[in-house]
Amino acid sequence: MRSSYHQTGYVAEGGDQTVGGLPEAVREAWEERKGPAVFGTVNVEGVPNVVCVNCVWVLNEEQFVIADNTFHKTQANILAGSPGSLLFLSERGGSYQVKGSVGYHTSGEVYETMKRWNDAMDPERPGGGAAVLNVEEVFRGAERLV
Ligand SMILES: Cc1cc2nc3c(=O)[nH]c(=O)nc-3n(C[C@H](O)[C@H](O)[C@H](O)COP(=O)(O)O)c2cc1C
Repeated sequence: MRSSYHQTGYVAEGGDQTVGGLPEAVREAWEERKGPAVFGTVNVEGVPNVVCVNCVWVLNEEQFVIADNTFHKTQANILAGSPGSLLFLSERGGSYQVKGSVGYHTSGEVYETMKRWNDAMDPERPGGGAAVLNVEEVFRGAERLV
């Protein structure tokens, strides 16, 4: 089903809520998450690196976008081909993890979208790149949902 993204979520052409790669329950948990999310990558030698991220949004049914404001190892890992893992906690105490391949954009539509959202949070944030996490696996705790 085709849908368009609004700040409040996905609305199908007929007006129905739709579920894409991200299960509806996970998207709801995301909307009510507490605290920063945690984003993990790995370098070419397998050394993991995790960072707190606040500047992260659901881009569409199958992707999150994270603003690279001050990434160092994270950026290097992504550019070297690392997959990524995004962990967040819901208000009700569930822990959710989304895993997948990661793209990196410094121009184009996705980059401009990230810049708009990033500027709206704080225009001083540099937003030098947009890391895009593709939703390929989704877990609630140890339970695989996707
Ligand atoms: C609560 C919190 C939220 C953060 N959110 C972001 C973010 O959304 N984007 C970003 O680039 N850095 C963010 N940072 C800063 C990075 O976590 C930090 O610069 C990190 O050390 C990056 O370095 P590394 O990639 O070498 O690990 C945040 C830091 C904290 C403490």
